[in-house]
Amino acid sequence: MPRKIVVTSALPYANGPIHIGHLVEYLQTDIWVRFQKMCGNECLYFCADDTHGTPIMISARAAGISPEQLIEQMHKEHKADFDRFYIEFDNYYSTHSPENKYFSELIFNRLNKAGSIVTREVEQTYCENCKMSLPDRFVRGTCPRCKAEDQYGDSCEVCSATYQPIDLINPCCSTCRAKPILQISMHYFFKLADYEQQLKDLIAGGHTQKSVANKLDEWFKAGLRDWDISRDGPYFGFKIPGEENKFFYVWLDAPIGYMASAKNYCDKNNIDFDNLWPGTNSAGASSSEYELYHFIGKDIMYFHALFFPAMLIGAGFRTADKLFVHGFLTVNGEKMSKSRGTFIKASTYVKHLSPEYLRYYYASKLTDSIEDIDLRIEDFINKTNSNLVGKFANLASRSGPMLTKKLDGRLGQLDDRGTELINKLTAAKDRIIEDYENLKFASAVRTIISLADEANRYVEQNKPWVTIKTDLEKTRTTLTAVINAVRILTIYLKPILPKYAEKVEKFLNVDKLSFEDLDTVLENHKINDFERLVERIDEEQVNAMIEESKETQNPQPTAADPAEPFKPECTIEDFAKIDLRIAKVIKAEAVEGADKLLRLDLDVGGPEKSVLAAIATAYKPEELTGKIVVYFANLKPRQMRFGLSEGMILAAGTGGKDIFMLSADTGVKPGQKVL
Ligand code: 2FM
Ligand code: ZN
Repeated sequence: MPRKIVVTSALPYANGPIHIGHLVEYLQTDIWVRFQKMCGNECLYFCADDTHGTPIMISARAAGISPEQLIEQMHKEHKADFDRFYIEFDNYYSTHSPENKYFSELIFNRLNKAGSIVTREVEQTYCENCKMSLPDRFVRGTCPRCKAEDQYGDSCEVCSATYQPIDLINPCCSTCRAKPILQISMHYFFKLADYEQQLKDLIAGGHTQKSVANKLDEWFKAGLRDWDISRDGPYFGFKIPGEENKFFYVWLDAPIGYMASAKNYCDKNNIDFDNLWPGTNSAGASSSEYELYHFIGKDIMYFHALFFPAMLIGAGFRTADKLFVHGFLTVNGEKMSKSRGTFIKASTYVKHLSPEYLRYYYASKLTDSIEDIDLRIEDFINKTNSNLVGKFANLASRSGPMLTKKLDGRLGQLDDRGTELINKLTAAKDRIIEDYENLKFASAVRTIISLADEANRYVEQNKPWVTIKTDLEKTRTTLTAVINAVRILTIYLKPILPKYAEKVEKFLNVDKLSFEDLDTVLENHKINDFERLVERIDEEQVNAMIEESKETQNPQPTAADPAEPFKPECTIEDFAKIDLRIAKVIKAEAVEGADKLLRLDLDVGGPEKSVLAAIATAYKPEELTGKIVVYFANLKPRQMRFGLSEGMILAAGTGGKDIFMLSADTGVKPGQKVL
């Protein structure tokens, strides 16, 4: 009896591109889903963009578009990236959808009715300039412990101290740099502790891996605290029922997005959602024909193992059968890094390399544990070239062309030795299926490699390239076994390498392969012309990809990565206070001990002025004498480390050699006003 399975992957935020770190999860899930489908099971894979929250609202503002426009654009980009990696969702939806609004409100209302929602006042940081409350990450300042500058409002990246935003020294709003104030506001809280026993029972029933259960145990011991599920406007999200300016916190509606995506699919495909994601009876039990699994990374366990199931239990909905938690990606043993070029976007990767290399490499490393997986570039190249090309594709390229060119493309029958080889290969079926089922992909890949070694040995022993000169029929028999080996290995690899499998199916002139096909052999069958299956990786391609991923000094701002924000607005009256005059450089000299500074003596139409200007990277002192510059005349003189600076000269540019002032003496008079 085929199983019915629903699978989800975590919903990516709609304000950044998909990168190779994200792909660990989507590829792990996609391989598992494809495996289930190949076993003949009905397996539905749902996902969506996670569209709400402050960062998305601010990214949209910085890009000068509405959040709706931003999320629409990101949805297209994400979907295109997933398609490129052959990640095949049954529905890729959005949390900014009517279904998600409906379920978020429904669940909230039911929790409220159950007495699991309370309100109380909280103190929050608020920017009077941006007119919004600031999440911790939107407050920056100096760490109160180690004094590192420009740290986030929740923790210091240098000394790992954790604190409240207001504990920062000189806290400022990361958008406008204004100093935030403290404000009291009423918030909604979900009483997570009400569900402690049900959550413990769920975990005890094998809901997650053992290591995850241990972590959860620590959290239970530390005590489950109420969860703040509201945010004050302006906020891009769903309004809380009955409120004018309060919204659901993004993490409340994000996991409900799994249900929304499923509901949207069910409605379009005439499936009964209430059967797929049923409610529970008074004893808290539910029955569904569908198994339900969530794939997530270990950073979001709290939300998926505690908050979300508690919300579902409280609102009378089924919970998942299992949570599959994976680790993070490291590259060459380190965190992905923009400066090292290892923070590689999916769209950059595909410009240089085949997606199947990465699918294969990740599969060869993935286990059922929450350990991080390491993408070692040299190992990645070696594994692709020696296994994918050298072992699997090679088997086909050694036999296919010979069969089509010299033997009319027709398979014969297996002899005893051929049957022995094929039996060895098919005997591994149950082990491989079990490994796939239990997310032990690395183990499955190891088994498949050892089978490919066996098949390659068979070719070496039977030497078809020799027998083809003397005994055509013997060669046909040998190649019939090899082609059947190619077919079996392709079935085993198909969840990992769907495109490769498609090419093999075409070459073998067969329908879509599934695990069922392991029970038959291909004999007396005409195959098609051979087409190359995979190319070798050249190190240069990988280097070019890394080069392209290196963040430049002055990256171009994008919607997802907004430009340096503007300062707080000032009025025309503020601006009119600035007295700008023409000045002529009388003398310029280097400043000892300050590489970037020059001291300029200026004729400003009255007493001479002396200013320090950080323009030494762009100008030599001798070039400056006689030049006309714009002078900020009424700036209060400042005592700097290298002397007194009386006013300031104005220049434009991005720094370094790129600093421009007014140029030659055009006859204007020092002291003249600048409009
Ligand atoms: O951590 C993240 O990237 C979140 N966008 C994941 C959300 S998963 C689910 F809860 F929606
Ligand atoms: Zn601000």
